Amino acid sequence: MAGKSSSSISEQALSKLIYAAAKAREGAVAPYSKFKVGAALLTESGEIVTGANVESASYGLTCCAERVALFNALTSGKRNFTAVAVVARAAGGPMPCGACRQLLAEYASEAKVFVADSRRLKVVKQFTVGELLPGAFLDFRPA
Ligand code: THU
Repeated sequence: MAGKSSSSISEQALSKLIYAAAKAREGAVAPYSKFKVGAALLTESGEIVTGANVESASYGLTCCAERVALFNALTSGKRNFTAVAVVARAAGGPMPCGACRQLLAEYASEAKVFVADSRRLKVVKQFTVGELLPGAFLDFRPA
């Protein structure tokens, strides 16, 4: 596995999560960009929740795979995410956009983020949410 820090989940759990994201990618609805992305979240209790990107003719309404997976998980009562995998046909794996980084910082701050190119699922890069979004906006209340 590529990446700087060692994984907090087993190689087997990581492989399963990456494959779940790759499978979820097949459900992407991306008629405009044709860029299909799949995401899979892992909970502390070992459950996997997936999502894929959904695009709109009003482009700005598009929702990324990471947020679809996160909203799916959150609205079915899941919390305490330990990892998220994101897969797309992108060299080195797809990097989550800023909006998704914000949501991950709010709802999955402890999750390790794994990305992989759909053509090379065994080559995985790993990040922390803090690395992806340092100094995240988390509190709107005045000090
Ligand atoms: N997209 C994701 O789903 N996740 C990412 O990490 C990057 C971008 C989607 C949004 C849009 O449907 C397509 O990829 C092209 O931007």
